[in-house]
Amino acid sequence: MSRMWGTLWLAAVLARAEPDVPQSFTVYSAPIRLRYGEVYNTQQDPMVLPQHIVDKYFDQGKAMALSGFDVEMIRKEKNGVESKVKLSDHYLHHYILAMGDNSTMQKIFQQAAKDKMFARMLTGCHAMTRSHVHSFLTSLGDDPDIVYFGSASGAEYRHNLQRYQAPFRRIISKPHLWAPIFHVINTNRPLKNTSVPYSPLLECPCTPQRKIDVKHGKIDGEDPDPPIQCSKEFAATGNPSCNLATYVGGWRCCEHGVFVIDTDKECSDPQCSEEPKDEIFMKYTFYYEDHYPETRKMEMAACCDVTSTTQGVENIEYDVPVCPSGTPPEKCLHTVETVQPVGYYHRHPKSPHDKHRADELVDLVFAAPHLHVAGLSIELFDDITNKTLCSVFASSDNKGGVMYGNGTEPGNENGYLVGLRPCSWAGGEAPRFQRNHPLRTRAVYNASRAHTGVMSLWLMDVSPVSDAEVLV
Ligand SMILES: *[C@@H]1O[C@H](CO)[C@@H](O)[C@H](O)[C@H]1NC(C)=O
Ligand SMILES: *[C@@H]1O[C@H](CO)[C@@H](O)[C@H](O)[C@H]1NC(C)=O
Ligand SMILES: *[C@@H]1O[C@H](CO)[C@@H](O)[C@H](O)[C@H]1NC(C)=O
Ligand SMILES: *[C@@H]1O[C@H](CO)[C@@H](O)[C@H](O)[C@H]1NC(C)=O
Ligand SMILES: *[C@@H]1O[C@H](CO)[C@@H](O)[C@H](O)[C@H]1NC(C)=O
Repeated sequence: MSRMWGTLWLAAVLARAEPDVPQSFTVYSAPIRLRYGEVYNTQQDPMVLPQHIVDKYFDQGKAMALSGFDVEMIRKEKNGVESKVKLSDHYLHHYILAMGDNSTMQKIFQQAAKDKMFARMLTGCHAMTRSHVHSFLTSLGDDPDIVYFGSASGAEYRHNLQRYQAPFRRIISKPHLWAPIFHVINTNRPLKNTSVPYSPLLECPCTPQRKIDVKHGKIDGEDPDPPIQCSKEFAATGNPSCNLATYVGGWRCCEHGVFVIDTDKECSDPQCSEEPKDEIFMKYTFYYEDHYPETRKMEMAACCDVTSTTQGVENIEYDVPVCPSGTPPEKCLHTVETVQPVGYYHRHPKSPHDKHRADELVDLVFAAPHLHVAGLSIELFDDITNKTLCSVFASSDNKGGVMYGNGTEPGNENGYLVGLRPCSWAGGEAPRFQRNHPLRTRAVYNASRAHTGVMSLWLMDVSPVSDAEVLV
């Protein structure tokens, strides 16, 4: 008897001691069909995850633990061959993935049907920052059955390794379906009359077709999404992006179906109907394992957007004004800093249902930088000790973690920002903070030209520390 138990025990230990063979599955989005200059910015209909995943987890009532994923943008050729799509062909501005339970997904859609602002926030950038959705999901319960992740990672997606160190995993408690949101611009024309190597369309210029009504605060008759609103501190810098009256480009002029070219000049009608529609797909490979007792869940952090000083994001984007002529190149920089708490906790307007206390502990487990073209560096500091937690910077060998392309192949498109290196931490080494612990972000852009709609964000995850872990 004891021998049998011994064997079973040994078998169990061996089974667990073996490193997990990374298991994976691949899914494709629904087609994204765009004409030149047109913007895609919407949530696709929910799609069922591969049957073996649904069988293994959803049907058995078991959670799946994601350890990472890869992203690719592809075209499906007639012969069935996939080819990678360059950033100069279609520009991925960002993606957001929702994964989980259909009934929770239905609740989100029902809420969206009742609440127009919520609906816009779902596909707009509030989904990206997830604060409104976070608030709605926390109102449904502590462990939402839909997990939003992916967020802002855009052009950098080919060199922006999404891998989490054990025991930290993205837990999908009811893996049944996924519903991605994509923001993509068709930029597939040779550049003409431009002094920059990248398509100016990726900065989402507000074209003459946009009806900007400053008095009523509307763009094309709608409330800008997200609301145009910077922190008091950032607004005080006079950044044009903080005010609709001075808003000339960025996400709010880049809604679904909008064109970022002057359609009066370049097309025969506002839909450019004479132009062909191109078709591309997004492809995701997810790495997963079972949810073990020692697995620790990841939760989105409340930090960091340089236009905010509180939990969550504010304006998200801003403009880089050109520096005065005559400024020496090494001083022609635009620098922004802010301080925000690391975790979400209660009694904040953006997290009214959050039950966490400010003094609860979290581990910082993953931090992905997000910058746009012209970004030179972004740093994350502990604002009490000044310790650098994560930092990336541009350098000619691309080793600093802010990577610019200098070739023609996908992932190395000349002049494009093609990569941003995240930081990740393993259990035992992850920095531990109270939820209200202040973190400082500092971002620097090259200001030798003006830019609209740039971002400086840390897309971060924390992991709640349980009482048991505190005692260890
Ligand atoms: C999700 O739920 C809705 C409403 O109950 C249903 O119509 C739809 O078929 C479900 N989708 C899947 C993939 O099961
Ligand atoms: C090129 O751009 C310059 C300045 O932006 C403008 O004056 C000029 O007319 C443009 N030329 C063409 C051929 O579009
Ligand atoms: C900023 O960009 C300009 C134009 O591309 C370049 O000449 C300059 O060296 C850059 N400055 C820095 C600090 O990278
Ligand atoms: C952190 O840096 C700030 C600004 O440079 C300084 O005022 C402060 O004393 C530093 N704190 C520590 C603990 O070194
Ligand atoms: C392109 O950049 C890489 C670093 O990513 C560098 O090693 C290589 O020499 C560069 N090539 C050219 C032609 O500048």
